[in-house]
Amino acid sequence: MSNLGSLLLCSFSLFVAAGAFKAPSLPLREPLVPVRRGETAPNQALFFDMPLDHFGNATGMYKNRYWINDTYYKPGGPIFLFDSGEQDAEPLLPYYLQEYHGLSATMRLAKRYNGVAILWEHRYYGDSLPFPANENTTAEQWQFLTTDQALEDVVYFAKRFSLPSAGPGPFDNASGPSSEVRNNPLHPSNTPWIWLGGSYPGVRGALLRVRNPETIFAVWASSAPVHAQIDMAAYYKAAERSLKRNCSADWVAVTRFVDATLANGTATQAVDLKVKLLRAREDGVTREQAANTSDVDAAEILMDPLDFYQYYGFKDSVLPFCNVVETQNFTALPTETGLAASFGIDVALNAFLAGIKQVNYAAIPGTEPARGRAFSWMWQYCSEYGFYERGDPNDPLSIETSFRSLELYQEQCNMAFPQGLPSAPAVEHVNKYGGWNMTPSNVLFTNGEFDPWRTMGLASIESNSPQRTPSVAIPACNVAPTFPSFFGLTHDNMVHVSDLRVLLTPDANHTEFKTVGFYSPISQEPFYAGLGLFQLALDDWLPCFSAAKLGVSTSHRVEGTSFKELTMAL
Ligand SMILES: *[C@@H]1O[C@H](CO)[C@@H](O)[C@H](O)[C@H]1NC(C)=O
Ligand SMILES: *[C@@H]1O[C@H](CO)[C@@H](O)[C@H](O)[C@H]1NC(C)=O
Ligand SMILES: *[C@@H]1O[C@H](CO)[C@@H](O)[C@H](O)[C@H]1NC(C)=O
Ligand SMILES: *[C@@H]1O[C@H](CO)[C@@H](O)[C@H](O)[C@H]1NC(C)=O
Ligand SMILES: *[C@@H]1O[C@H](CO)[C@@H](O)[C@H](O)[C@H]1NC(C)=O
Ligand SMILES: *[C@@H]1O[C@H](CO)[C@@H](O)[C@H](O)[C@H]1NC(C)=O
Ligand SMILES: *[C@@H]1O[C@H](CO)[C@@H](O)[C@H](O)[C@H]1NC(C)=O
Ligand SMILES: *[C@@H]1O[C@H](CO)[C@@H](O)[C@H](O)[C@H]1NC(C)=O
Ligand SMILES: *[C@@H]1O[C@H](CO)[C@@H](O)[C@H](O)[C@H]1NC(C)=O
Repeated sequence: MSNLGSLLLCSFSLFVAAGAFKAPSLPLREPLVPVRRGETAPNQALFFDMPLDHFGNATGMYKNRYWINDTYYKPGGPIFLFDSGEQDAEPLLPYYLQEYHGLSATMRLAKRYNGVAILWEHRYYGDSLPFPANENTTAEQWQFLTTDQALEDVVYFAKRFSLPSAGPGPFDNASGPSSEVRNNPLHPSNTPWIWLGGSYPGVRGALLRVRNPETIFAVWASSAPVHAQIDMAAYYKAAERSLKRNCSADWVAVTRFVDATLANGTATQAVDLKVKLLRAREDGVTREQAANTSDVDAAEILMDPLDFYQYYGFKDSVLPFCNVVETQNFTALPTETGLAASFGIDVALNAFLAGIKQVNYAAIPGTEPARGRAFSWMWQYCSEYGFYERGDPNDPLSIETSFRSLELYQEQCNMAFPQGLPSAPAVEHVNKYGGWNMTPSNVLFTNGEFDPWRTMGLASIESNSPQRTPSVAIPACNVAPTFPSFFGLTHDNMVHVSDLRVLLTPDANHTEFKTVGFYSPISQEPFYAGLGLFQLALDDWLPCFSAAKLGVSTSHRVEGTSFKELTMAL
C-alpha cells in the first residue's frame, strides 16, 4: 500500500537512513485535512489525569486529551463518546464534534437524545502522550501501549467524568476529581455511555461491550476488524473480487512477471525493470537510484492503484485505472481476456505502467504522513494485531507482490522495535474477547461490502471465518443475538467506514477522489441507513437502562425526563 501506504511508509525514515527497505503499511485510517483556526467555534481541549499503568505496579500519570460538546445536553441525557483511535484526534474535532462540514452521527445523536458528545483521544497518539512516541521511544515506554490499558483508560475516565460547566457538584468529594464517585449523575451507573467508532475504534467499542458492559451501555461499531490475525492476505480479496476479468488477468500476469524478474532475472534485467517501475511514479529516476531500490519497494509500485480502494472502492479508484490499462491509454479497444493473453506480457506491462503514470496516484493530496501515529500504530500491530497484508503467491488471483511476505513484516517490526516485542503479534490479547465469534449485546456492527477490513469483521466471508449473518432485527436490550446471527448491516458497494464518516454536503468540489484526496466523498445512503438503525436500536435499549436504574436504586436516579420522552423530543 504505498501511498495511503506511504502515509506510514514515508514516516519510517529510520529504515531509509539505515539503508533498509521501507515498511509495509497498514492503512486503517484516513487523515483529515485540518480546518484552519478561527473557522469553527472555539472548543478547548480538556485533559484528564490518567494512570499510566492500570494493571501493574508502575506509578505515574499522564494527561489524556478529550473534547466535549454539550450544546444539546439536558440532564438525564446520555453520553455519546466518539473514539478517534490510532490518530491525533484534533483534526477530527470540527468534523465530528462541530459539524463544520455537515452532519456528524455523533452530533445528530447528541441532539436527538439531548446528550453530551465527547471526542476521545487514545493514549500514545496526538497530545495524549505518556512518553514521546517516536523512533527513540524505548521498550520500557512502549509496554504501556496495549489494547487492555487503552480500554481501561476509557472505563477509568467514564467513572470519574463530570461536566466542567457543572462545577464541583454535590456529588463531588474532597478526595478530588480522580476518585470514582457513584452518585455523580454522569457516572455510567446513572447515565448510559454510548460508544461510536469506526475501524480500530469500532473494535474497541465491541471489546468494551464484552469487557465492561457495566460501563459502556451501547456501541455502534463501524467496519470493525474485531478478529486479529497475523496473516491478512485477505486484505486485497475485496479488490480482487471487484475487478473485471481482463484487468484482473493483467494485474495478476504483470505482478507475477515483475516478481519473477526481480527474483530470478539477471541483475541487468532487474535494474531495467526497476527503472521502468520507478519512472511510472516519478520522471527522471536514475539507474543508480533504481539499483538502490529494494525489490519490495519496486514491486509495490504495481499496487499504487489500490491505495485508495479502502476509501473509494472500485468504481472511483480502480476502474479509471483499469480503463486506461485495458484501452492502452484509450488508443485501442479492450479485449475480453486482457492484454497479456492477447498481446504478450510486454504490452501488458507497458499499459499497466502507463495507467499508473496517467492516473498519477502519487499526486493525490491528503497523504501527509503523521510521524508519531506511524510509530504508535506500528507498535500496536507488531505487538498485538498482526494484520500483515502480505501477498499470497498461492492465491491464483493475487494482485499483491509476494515480496511482501509475512517474514518481511516481522523483520520490519523487529527492526523498528528491537526490544519488547513478542516473537509474533500476540493476537490472543484481542481475540480473547471472542474475535469472529463474539456475541456482545447492545452493539450494532456495520460494514461495507467491499471494505478490505470486512474480512476481519463479523461480516467476514473468508473461508476460515465462521461466516456469520448480519440481521437488522433489533435484539432485545442486554440480550446477545444468537450465534451465528449478529445485529448488523452490510452496506452494498460500500467501503471502509462509509457510514460513520463525516457527511459532507455534496458539491462539485467534493466528489472526485483525485482532487480531494482523503477528504470526503461519501454517500449519504449508508450514513442515514446506519444512523437510522442505531437510533431505532437506542429507542429500544435506552428505556431499559432507565428501567434497570429504577430497579437498582432510586437514590441514584437521574432527575428529569425519561429516555422515552427524550426520544420523542425530536
Ligand atoms: C507487582 O507487584 C506484585 C506484588 O508485589 C509482584 O508479584 C509482581 O511481580 C509485580 N509486577 C510487576 C510487573 O512488577
Ligand atoms: C457543538 O455542536 C454544534 C452542532 O454541531 C456546533 O454548531 C457547535 O459549534 C459545537 N460547539 C462546540 C463548542 O464545539
Ligand atoms: C532520537 O535520538 C537521536 C539521537 O539522540 C536524535 O538525534 C533525534 O533527534 C531523536 N529523535 C526525536 C524524534 O526526538
Ligand atoms: C470520597 O472518596 C473517598 C475515596 O475514594 C471514599 O472513600 C469516600 O467514601 C467518598 N465520600 C463520599 C461522601 O462519597
Ligand atoms: C524463482 O525461481 C525459483 C526456482 O525456479 C522458483 O521456485 C521461484 O518461485 C521463482 N521466484 C519467483 C518470484 O517467481
Ligand atoms: C545508493 O546506495 C549507496 C550505498 O548505500 C549510497 O552510497 C548511494 O548514495 C546511493 N545512491 C543513490 C543515488 O541513492
Ligand atoms: C475489459 O476492460 C474494459 C475497460 O476497463 C471494461 O469496460 C470491460 O468490462 C472489460 N471486459 C471484461 C470481459 O473484463
Ligand atoms: C495518455 O494519453 C493522453 C492523451 O493522449 C496523453 O496526454 C498522456 O501523456 C498519455 N499518458 C501516458 C502515460 O502515456
Ligand atoms: C469548487 O466548485 C466551484 C463550482 O461549484 C468552482 O467554481 C470552484 O473553482 C471549485 N474549487 C476548486 C478548488 O475546485
